[in-house]
Amino acid sequence: MNRTSNPFRATLGSTPPYLAGRQNEIADFADALDDGPGSHERISLITGLRGVGKTVLLNAFEDEARSRSWWVISETATAGFSGRIVDTLFRLAEDTLRTHKRRLSGVTLPTIGGIQFSDVLQHQPQVTLRSALTDLLDWQEKVDRQLGQEPVGLLITLDELHYHRRDEVIEFGTTIQHLVREERNIAVAMAGIPQSIRPLLASQEGKNPVTFLRRANRIDLGLIGKDEVKAALTEPVENAGFSWEPDALDDAVEACGGYPFMIQLIGQQCFKRSEGTVITARSVSEGATVAKRRLGQLVHEPALADLSEVDRTFLVAMAADDGPSSMSDIAERLGANPQYAGNYRRRLIEAEIIVSSRYGFVDFELPYMREYLREHAAVSVFKGQKDTDSKD
Ligand SMILES: Nc1ncnc2c1ncn2[C@@H]1O[C@H](COP(=O)(O)OP(=O)(O)O)[C@@H](O)[C@H]1O
Ligand SMILES: [Mg+2]
Repeated sequence: MNRTSNPFRATLGSTPPYLAGRQNEIADFADALDDGPGSHERISLITGLRGVGKTVLLNAFEDEARSRSWWVISETATAGFSGRIVDTLFRLAEDTLRTHKRRLSGVTLPTIGGIQFSDVLQHQPQVTLRSALTDLLDWQEKVDRQLGQEPVGLLITLDELHYHRRDEVIEFGTTIQHLVREERNIAVAMAGIPQSIRPLLASQEGKNPVTFLRRANRIDLGLIGKDEVKAALTEPVENAGFSWEPDALDDAVEACGGYPFMIQLIGQQCFKRSEGTVITARSVSEGATVAKRRLGQLVHEPALADLSEVDRTFLVAMAADDGPSSMSDIAERLGANPQYAGNYRRRLIEAEIIVSSRYGFVDFELPYMREYLREHAAVSVFKGQKDTDSKD
């Protein structure tokens, strides 16, 4: 084990040392900021499984906005997020005033909901998100003119979007749609896992879909290509003055399965086990075992917990196979008719837990989900069913 600080970031939400394979998404968003109000990507919705890099992409979008001197409000969509956005708006306005005190001497303080800014700060009256945003964007336009600068926009990011906050999301969406229609200098990027977002997009239980979200630019994050995985494993190691044995690097790339969180887990665990400053095949074989276990705890376990009991049974039935499972085998193992099994297949594909690999076959989306299920669930029940003769 070595004592040089480990360059990898195997923590949900932490920006990795090398951001693999998201260049297009970032460039599109950056272009939208430059293209001005009305560009489609200014309202974006990122979806994907846990650990695929949604929060990290939101952070990258925030960096793009900050590098253009935009205001950035970064929120999580837990209860009361609109109120928190209002509070942050006040703080940002205060900062702007402080930073440009002298140059803004001629500019009057903003008025929010008809109340003077200083009073707003002191008394914290209930101000709606809409009036706070409108008044502060108005005021910012005035400041931009006074300082003769490029228009300063506002980016709001909203992570962990969930249908449990449907009403607040609808209200937020209505406000934003209004501002977009008024061609305000605003952008919004939201993120969430497919199961939490789908009920907001589709009409279910007689509720209307949230049109604001349906119209948003959808960014469905998936796995990363091998070349980029390789770069993400190599660059941080070389920057630390370390190196990979070529075979060890190939093994490590393979073990990542293109999954962003796994890049960090594998990188971190292998780096920890380097021999001198070289990461060897042994570092990888030992490191990968630990990385898989962590992935199970941090990704597979919560992903499975989001599902229903029957969904899980379906997955356990799949785990009895060493590769893609045929739907007729699954139905048989579940003792269910094909329509019933087909319903669960569709749900699990929508949840991005499984993919349809070829006609009549399904496979796991996440690397090591099969192994995880085999270790943690009674897969043997279905294995037994598969070749009853030998088991009985
Ligand atoms: N494009 C990427 N390249 C390399 N590592 C990444 C990438 N995206 C995410 N990661 C790493 O994966 C982990 C999970 O990322 P995160 O954004 O928290 O996922 P999510 O929000 O989708 O659950 C973090 O450790 C992060 O550093
Ligand atoms: Mg996240």
